[in-house]
Amino acid sequence: TTSGRTQTFRCGCGGLLAAVHPATTRPGAVTAATFHTRLSTLTGPGRSGVWRYAELVYPQALSVAVSAPEGNTNLYESVPVRQWTGAAGLMLKHEGENPTGSFKDRGMTVGITHAVAVGARVVACASTGNTSASMAAYAARAGLRAVVFIPYGSVALGKLSQSIAYGARTVQVKGDFDAAMRIVTQVTSSEGIYILNSVNPFRLEGQKTIILETLHQLGWDAPDWIVVPGGNLGNTSAFGKALREALEIGLIRKMPRIAVIQAEGSNPFYRAYRTGFARFERVTASTLATAIRIGDPVNYAKARRSVEWTDGIVDQVTDAEILDAKAVVDGAGIGCEPASAASVAGVRKLVAAGIIHADDRVVAILTGHILKDPDNTVSYHLGSGSAQPGPRANTPVIVEPDISQILKVI
Ligand code: F0G
Repeated sequence: TTSGRTQTFRCGCGGLLAAVHPATTRPGAVTAATFHTRLSTLTGPGRSGVWRYAELVYPQALSVAVSAPEGNTNLYESVPVRQWTGAAGLMLKHEGENPTGSFKDRGMTVGITHAVAVGARVVACASTGNTSASMAAYAARAGLRAVVFIPYGSVALGKLSQSIAYGARTVQVKGDFDAAMRIVTQVTSSEGIYILNSVNPFRLEGQKTIILETLHQLGWDAPDWIVVPGGNLGNTSAFGKALREALEIGLIRKMPRIAVIQAEGSNPFYRAYRTGFARFERVTASTLATAIRIGDPVNYAKARRSVEWTDGIVDQVTDAEILDAKAVVDGAGIGCEPASAASVAGVRKLVAAGIIHADDRVVAILTGHILKDPDNTVSYHLGSGSAQPGPRANTPVIVEPDISQILKVI
């Protein structure tokens, strides 16, 4: 709701609002054929893997979308990753292939389009780095001012450089992401600044298309599992909503199960799940997967609903497991940032536990690009300070420009 200088996406009860569209309440109002037809367009928003599904996202804005275009990301079948996880039917949906290198672009194109529609001049977000990179880019393209709040010292280099380069006012908060989130909530509730965190329902509508596009790529034959890293739980929330709507309007015939994977040091959702969602307690987050270093996720309630709707589960993986999974995904020629690898590490763990079966059809989401966090990759392969290189390190060699020496090392 927008009134004068204040704008909020909260209901009077304190809960977060969600978007509802005519097509999601009337089975048959939109069919897979509509989406498929747009695949053949060479110009316009139909090229976007978000706006292609406009009837389920933000139908009023199809012709005015601020779009890059985003989406159209690959679904990889990788033999080495399948072997390492033990999931023979594993597919990797690479959201790092979006314009700014993460899935955030799918939500941002919708959020920025809405910001323009309501006449916003300034947009803001708190971020562990990818939301800010994406918002900075889309705001620049829409001619809006952007303000980002990021935790000082714990945003990966690629992301920090994007936010600065795209021209956002970049405020480094001496605190963690959760502190930055509290600040942006205060600033945007009183200063007439439009908020683009995932409390914004338009962002979540855009992120639903990770699922819609995947289902489309699979010929609307739903997989058994969808595995996703969990941080602020925006994706988890969006995925449950997308799947429920797809099932209700007849795009798919069965409900896949969602598996949310958290980093062990940033696991409030996992802990709540272990109590049967009886209790939620925030944690002080720590993990080298800085994208998901979040202790107080704003989308907890919606995410919980997603797990319940999909008979889903929540698990956790260690930083060592994340790094190992990343090395396997990278070494397969696909590559991803550390947080993304949590989903692949989770698949391996769930197969070993007999929860995911070896022949299940599994889609794991890779949320961000390998170049987002070069420091992490280089430290893993070269070691850093007192830390030894990781077990799968591919250590570079240094040589004199002498052919006989070089022939020995290659
Ligand atoms: N993976 C990556 C690469 C992310 O950047 C994020 C979130 C997540 C996973 C977790 O997704 O929040 O929907 O559960 N990054 C946010 C940011 C918090 O500010 O860029 P989630």
